[in-house]
Amino acid sequence: MLTTAKIEEIRARIKTWKNKGESVAFVPTMGNLHAGHISLITEGKRRADHVVASIFVNPMQFGPNEDLDGYPRTLEADQQKLVEAGCELLFLPTPEIIYPRGLAVQTYVEVPGLSEQLCGATRPGHFRGAATIVCKLFNIVQPDIALFGRKDYQQLQIIRTMVEDLSLPVEVMGVDTVRESSGLAMSSRNGYLTAEEKAKAPALKRTLDDLAEAIKNGTAIELAIAEAKSTLQHAGLRPDYIEIRQAQTLAPVTETDKELVILAAVYLGKARLIDNLVVHR
Ligand code: PAJ
Repeated sequence: MLTTAKIEEIRARIKTWKNKGESVAFVPTMGNLHAGHISLITEGKRRADHVVASIFVNPMQFGPNEDLDGYPRTLEADQQKLVEAGCELLFLPTPEIIYPRGLAVQTYVEVPGLSEQLCGATRPGHFRGAATIVCKLFNIVQPDIALFGRKDYQQLQIIRTMVEDLSLPVEVMGVDTVRESSGLAMSSRNGYLTAEEKAKAPALKRTLDDLAEAIKNGTAIELAIAEAKSTLQHAGLRPDYIEIRQAQTLAPVTETDKELVILAAVYLGKARLIDNLVVHR
């Protein structure tokens, strides 16, 4: 696997593939790779001739009081996992390469509306940062297909919207959430949990499952949500939000909507955990 910080080297390697008519899948990450990330690489291998990954802890998507400095960095182990999964090219830029003129004057991409709700309400600027870096990375790599986890459901919808709105020539694919045997969605931020907190964390997925059952059984949404909030609190998780939206647009649910998504974020110790579940009613 060629690892490089240089945009020209990435472009040159990809050009040799494209000249032969071979297809390229791309998986952007912030590193500290786990089985969830690797499932994206594996899916990419299935769908394209070559898989390219990036590791970049993107300062633009972190708020001033968030975990940019403490974000786990495990490059050697990450490279090993990527090689084993069949990734052939890793883009590993520095902030200076990505933002040479500095963040304050960087052109940005924003998907209004979608970016200000749910996680965006608590993390202002987060989705602007995520959309901007993904747009830049798409322009650097120019993949045929890009893979994103459904675990970050709102992010995936924002990327899909950006691609459509800007007519970017890439097919965006969502991949199912990979979970621990406890049901806890895998996340680099799970590493912030103490053993005691890790034992509490699976209550998040259990609460989503119960809420989905209640909705399918016809319980009114507001009532079901109030119950779920209280269950989370009793389990020692502090809800940031728990909401039910229309699955495709994330718009508020109307009576006729059949495909819904439950989205939640909770605080637990030093971590903020997110999860979601699609429900058909
Ligand atoms: P990161 O959190 O490293 O996640 C990279 C990709 O892995 C995202 O598409 C995310 O949804 C996916 N992923 C994370 N945990 C997963 C799990 N348990 N199962 C399946 N997929 C999972 O998301 C980002 O980085 C950044 O915002 C990024 C898109 C790279 C832009 O900086």
